[in-house]
Amino acid sequence: DAVELGQYRHYMQKEIFEQPQALANTLEIIAGGGSISPQLFGSQAAEVFAGVRRVLMLACGTSYHAGLVARYWLESVAKVPCTVEIASEYRYRESVPDPDTLVVVISQSGETADTLAALKHARSLGMTRTLAICNVPESAIVREACLRFITRAGPEIGVASTKAFTTQLAALALLTLALAKLAGRLPEAEEARYLIALRHLPVAVQKVLELEPQIEAWAQRFAAKHHALFLGRGRHWPIAMEGALKLKEISYIHAEAYAAGELKHGPLALVDRDMPVIAIAPADELLEKLKSNLQEVRARGGELYVFADAGSEIAESEGVHILPMPEHYGMLSPVLHVVSLQLLSYHAALVKGTDVDKPRNLAKSVTVE
Ligand code: AGP
Repeated sequence: DAVELGQYRHYMQKEIFEQPQALANTLEIIAGGGSISPQLFGSQAAEVFAGVRRVLMLACGTSYHAGLVARYWLESVAKVPCTVEIASEYRYRESVPDPDTLVVVISQSGETADTLAALKHARSLGMTRTLAICNVPESAIVREACLRFITRAGPEIGVASTKAFTTQLAALALLTLALAKLAGRLPEAEEARYLIALRHLPVAVQKVLELEPQIEAWAQRFAAKHHALFLGRGRHWPIAMEGALKLKEISYIHAEAYAAGELKHGPLALVDRDMPVIAIAPADELLEKLKSNLQEVRARGGELYVFADAGSEIAESEGVHILPMPEHYGMLSPVLHVVSLQLLSYHAALVKGTDVDKPRNLAKSVTVE
């Protein structure tokens, strides 16, 4: 193990730092002159995608959060209606099947019992257009689906999923663009812009990794707290959920995530000086809305830790700590923001002295119900 870990203390840390390479490997298919096409999802994909009217994503845990981000992408870029369901709920509820649905199952391991069962359930309802986004080529989920996209994150050993998540997002970005192109909604110039952003993604993630010392200092400050609140809006709301899951999972600090607009509908009552509030502040179209949510927190004495893109223009002040992120990265911004939250939870867990790679009560893949 010591040899494999190299310069790193834990697999989780190693896997966080492997993300630029994992993304480069996963996106190799569009390197150089590659373009967006259904072929990225296999030779039968054009046939399977034709006539798809909606997308249903099924997954658990972190993989479910990847689906939630992709929902924002699919509906805004490809204009394809999309729902995302927790696999363990979907398999047991009575739903209305639609054969023109593309069922996308997302799983790092490809062995998660609930996700596999949800896929079989969808098929039993007559939904035969299925795609597995998975990190393990010969896994049960991959064998069960008619199309596959294999992320090339490499083996993920830490129980907390990191590089599998960001490569799932890369795969889902390609899916969004492929469906948009098929629907005639991806003009050439726009496709070229997205391809540049995707090809540059590993370098952009590398820049976020360089923020580790500042993030570590933040972790020191709030590792002593018992609770934390994560806020995001739009496509960064699922990133807030992922940040909260990571923190709970490895540091055992109770964390909750909210869409920032929901604050005044309940969670604001929790805010006081003992409740650190972590906010994701990308310089996007929802920034002004988020800023007013943050003011609501400050007015109640809540201490804010804000990951702010260059250009977000949120000033440091008493009780408002800012961690400057790189330039806003458009549609793919969630990929950058999640990396900083992974580092935050990793360092909070180090301060707390928990077993980072094997948190209590959890297994790497949940192969039983
Ligand atoms: C993430 O940190 C978790 N360990 C967990 O939520 C995981 O993502 C979930 O169990 C799904 O696993 P899968 O991607 O292998 O299907």
